[in-house]
Amino acid sequence: MIKKTLLAILLFVSNINFSIADIESGKKVFNKCKSCHSIKQEKNKLGPHLVKIFGRKAGSIENFKYSSALKDSGIIWSEETLKGYLANPRKYIPGTKMSFAGIKNTDQLNHLIEYLKKDSN
Ligand code: HEC
Repeated sequence: MIKKTLLAILLFVSNINFSIADIESGKKVFNKCKSCHSIKQEKNKLGPHLVKIFGRKAGSIENFKYSSALKDSGIIWSEETLKGYLANPRKYIPGTKMSFAGIKNTDQLNHLIEYLKKDSN
């Protein structure tokens, strides 16, 4: 009984450690985006800010000049659509003006999403 409880606690703690490590590594992946995107301030750079990106309609920041491809895409940003776009922007939305090659490494992509979830509020 005690063994089982200990094991459960151990698993719980190691899970927390895993997700903290994922977010930390996702934060590093975000270094690739930082020059063009702010995530903590509603301030546009070369790209639109990413504050509250989850649930946001693509191309909806009013004072940002989007490509019509992105603006008319009808996409709502979610874990799934963000992964699709960020893995290969020009394939997912042909005509997007985001000059970014994409993240091919699935772990990096997953970690980036975890980081975005945490810091885009
Ligand atoms: C060289 C600059 C640049 C880099 C690097 C870049 N982006 Fe972008 N991003 C843009 C531009 C410009 C747009 C607008 C695209 C359009 O209008 O087609 C954009 C659009 C987006 C959008 C859609 C936002 C909306 O309001 O619909 C998301 C999400 C996004 N970028 C996330 C990222 C992430 C995450 C990274 C890093 C992995 C990244 N971008 C790297 C310039 C960049």
